[in-house]
Amino acid sequence: AFKSLQRYYSTTQHIQTVGVIGGGQMGSGIAQVLSQAAKKNVIVVDLNKQVLEKSLAGITSILDKNVAKGKMSDLEKSDILKRLSFSDSLKSLANADFVIEAVIENAEIKCNIFKELDQIVKKEAILATNTSSISITKIAAATKRPQNVIGMHFMNPVPVMKLVEIIPGISTSEETQNITNQLTKDMGKVHTVARDTAGFIANRLLMPYINEACQAVYEGLGTIEDIDTTMKLGCNMPMGPLTLADFIGLDTCLSIMKVLQAELGDKYKPSPLLIRYVEAGKFGKKSNEGFYSYFIPASNTFK
Ligand code: NAI
Repeated sequence: AFKSLQRYYSTTQHIQTVGVIGGGQMGSGIAQVLSQAAKKNVIVVDLNKQVLEKSLAGITSILDKNVAKGKMSDLEKSDILKRLSFSDSLKSLANADFVIEAVIENAEIKCNIFKELDQIVKKEAILATNTSSISITKIAAATKRPQNVIGMHFMNPVPVMKLVEIIPGISTSEETQNITNQLTKDMGKVHTVARDTAGFIANRLLMPYINEACQAVYEGLGTIEDIDTTMKLGCNMPMGPLTLADFIGLDTCLSIMKVLQAELGDKYKPSPLLIRYVEAGKFGKKSNEGFYSYFIPASNTFK
């Protein structure tokens, strides 16, 4: 049994620096946990400098809360922050041993990034993607090292949620998978393995449920609050599907539904209401408005 476990996990001692591409809600969370739990040096890359500032501010505020609650010392906080750095150029990842990509859910953008990354990062480095639904095999094919490319699908919010879905593509090597399994463990997470099919396991099951909730609003089955409360209190869901959709990001939900529809057919057709919200720029919590409003009233700003 020990031997088979050894085969399942490989050492990650050689991984000193991890690159995270995309400093949005997922990228920030992944960067925090890589530094905090796995004790790796992390370089976060985003095109948008404001996103990088927001990412550092967001992580600092979470750590401050942990210190205030007595869950973490000031020294631990400053060590976590010391291991984090931020950049607006992929070139700063030249010495990374492992890279996790978490930019917007768009196949063309992800493939272009992997193509560029392949030429920048040392050839033995592993390139992982946090995509929710796009084919790992397709992203891997944009590189000359498909054996070193893998799906590493974190759940939101990353510091809280235990699971990571690991998705080997058709060409992914066993070694790449074993190192990724171990890095996931180093981050304090538990992994499952999913086959490289649209939406993998989590979103194949979750997104049709969220989409159906959007359709329920569209058809007037009940109010937004009644639909959420019914599922929360009636089915013991930790939160209603529309609240969850706002947390995930309605743009991300729509992109995932489109991938499911393209691969699996019209059973997975996005609800027209989901499309309308995204057209309106109402992406949920990250844009301050979705099914619910998240604006901070002006009177509270200076409290
Ligand atoms: P987000 O919109 O918060 O962040 C995306 C970031 O990518 C933005 O900061 C944007 O500036 C950056 N970006 C876009 N193009 C870029 C480029 N060419 N180079 C560098 N940065 C670039 O989105 P979120 O929610 O963090 O999602 C990111 C990825 O994680 C997506 O693939 C999504 O499907 C996946 N995911 C999302 C989950 C969620 O609940 N939101 C859960 C699990 C995975």
